[in-house]
Amino acid sequence: MEVSLSRFRPMVETDVPAVLALEHRAFPVPWTRQMLRDELAARNRTYLILDGETGIVAYGGVMLVDGDAHIMTMAVDEPNRRQGTGTSLLLALIDSALVAGAEHLTLELRVSNEAALGLYEKFGFAPVGIRPGYYVDEDALVMWAVDAAGAEYRRMLDRIREGTNE
Ligand SMILES: CC(C)(COP(=O)(O)OP(=O)(O)OC[C@H]1O[C@@H](n2cnc3c(N)ncnc32)[C@H](O)[C@@H]1OP(=O)(O)O)[C@@H](O)C(=O)NCCC(=O)NCCS
Repeated sequence: MEVSLSRFRPMVETDVPAVLALEHRAFPVPWTRQMLRDELAARNRTYLILDGETGIVAYGGVMLVDGDAHIMTMAVDEPNRRQGTGTSLLLALIDSALVAGAEHLTLELRVSNEAALGLYEKFGFAPVGIRPGYYVDEDALVMWAVDAAGAEYRRMLDRIREGTNE
């Protein structure tokens, strides 16, 4: 399988200030500059950027450990939401994880994050438990999509891709 990043490009160190600004707009408890730098420098990570006319529109990252791909974060800037960008970004992150050998996918989200829940359910993620106090001010819902390297999951990704501009 060839990985197509389509409109996305790998994040680099010089993106950190703009991504930090997006973090502050998108999350109640944003990642810090140092966390972003550490993530970029860490092994087994892929961080992707979508550029718009006036700056970064979306970013997200995935970590691969022993066949488990962990979606670390993703955000679409507010004016650009509900246009399929989150779907395209998650497709690109999952594609890159599958090419790198991922078998299963996992992530956490705030229990109140209905937008993210809708997105992740669309990608076949199912809730497996709650991690109390994960976000300090809120619990996390833990979700998995198992057998993501299998034919059935790949067919589902293809169906999602057909509905996008990718
Ligand atoms: C979650 C997020 C990335 C979605 O990005 P997006 O570009 O709006 O996503 P899409 O347009 O591709 O929408 C995909 C699906 O997500 C769900 N969704 C997105 N926004 C939603 C909302 N406000 N309410 C309910 N469901 C929503 C829907 O199921 C949608 O599919 P549909 O448009 O066919 O109904 C975006 O809302 C965001 O950046 N939020 C702030 C940061 C964040 O919470 N990130 C996730 C951390 S776990």
